[in-house]
Amino acid sequence: MATSRTGGEGSEGPKVLWNETQHKFETEDKKAYLEYVLRDGDKVMDILHTFVPSSKRGLGLASHLCVAAFNHAKSHSLSVIPSCSYVSDTFLPRNPSWNSLVYSEELKSSI
Ligand code: COA
Repeated sequence: MATSRTGGEGSEGPKVLWNETQHKFETEDKKAYLEYVLRDGDKVMDILHTFVPSSKRGLGLASHLCVAAFNHAKSHSLSVIPSCSYVSDTFLPRNPSWNSLVYSEELKSSI
């Protein structure tokens, strides 16, 4: 299983694990996770759901999960569909540099 620390060098960001078989990025205790499906011949990552336990909300944990997922998408040349409202309404507006990976209709012909 792949691991990544999302906060940058030397940061205390949580460890996020890629659970390839269950199509998730998750914390070590598996209690916080981002869930996706692959579409279009595995070239598009559709992020369906992000979940953080209520006791850990508001600390940026969902944002760390998203950074791990977007980094993975970037390194695997995947486009991203932000079906989860946290990704579309909060993460992307706050981290607009990731918009370049978002799947758009115009790209359809090249997929
Ligand atoms: N859609 C969009 N944005 C949301 C949201 C939702 N459903 N729920 C919370 N947010 C925003 C809040 O406005 C909050 O803003 P603030 O920083 O100004 O307070 C921000 O997310 C917090 O960001 P962050 O700390 O990175 O997120 P988190 O670790 O608290 O987790 C969720 C956010 C959405 C994953 C968590 O609240 C959760 O698990 N909710 C229940 C499941 C859910 O609704 N998932 C999203 C739809 S699939």
